[in-house]
Amino acid sequence: MAEPRNRYSTVSLTLHWLTAALVVTQVLLINAHEANEDTRLFIDLHKSVGLTILVLTLARLAWRAANPAIPLPERAPRWQKLAARATHVLFYVLLLAMPLVGWAASSASGREINFFGLFEWPLLPIGGGRDVARDLMDLHETAAKALYVLIALHVAGALKHHFIDRDNVLHRMLPFIPRRP
Ligand code: HEM
Ligand code: HEM
Repeated sequence: MAEPRNRYSTVSLTLHWLTAALVVTQVLLINAHEANEDTRLFIDLHKSVGLTILVLTLARLAWRAANPAIPLPERAPRWQKLAARATHVLFYVLLLAMPLVGWAASSASGREINFFGLFEWPLLPIGGGRDVARDLMDLHETAAKALYVLIALHVAGALKHHFIDRDNVLHRMLPFIPRRP
């Protein structure tokens, strides 16, 4: 039988860590926006980075369909495998839904989206004006809270694997961490 893979491909690693860094950037940009409401710079960057996450997530799902994830170690209990899988699926749902909802909200209120100052990102054919945009932004905010919970669970799971189970699950996503025998 073929040796099980013990780390993710460079493409998967790059997409994972780039997305994680961009998600953190999104939160920092919102904080910067709230502290400087007189400029649109931070919110414009937030929109462009958010749409970049959308494109990266679509690319990542296509890559993943061709390169399936590595299963968790055999000895991990079934509930943990299910919990990890559910967390990953929900991550993908939120990484698609958050930018789509943000894009829909900008479209409903007719606010243009300038993609990093390079071109006008097309708006979706959604009417309804500010009321619809407000409802969509409530959804965006709720999704952000769900994302924070998922990140906390995900990081706790990764640290548990590393420090309590003492297996190689963190190593395969962070290959510079030495592999355990
Ligand atoms: C916003 C931040 C993050 C997001 C959105 C995120 C998302 C994801 C997703 C979707 C997967 C599943 C990959 C797949 O098989 O398709 C994954 C795997 C993984 N992530 Fe993260 N991640 C984040 C941050 C982190 C951090 C900070 C750590 C380490 C402390 C980490 C450690 C891991 C590990 C070890 C795996 C592999 C799990 C396995 O092999 O079953 N992630 N992450
Ligand atoms: C994965 C991508 C994204 C993430 C993680 C994200 C995250 C967030 C977070 C955490 C907030 C603050 C919510 C709160 O009030 O507590 C927020 C607000 C907001 N987001 Fe996003 N966002 C993303 C994509 C987008 C996109 C693509 C757009 C628009 C094209 C957008 C537009 C907005 C707007 C207009 C606000 C409200 C800012 C304000 O006036 O306070 N977001 N987002």
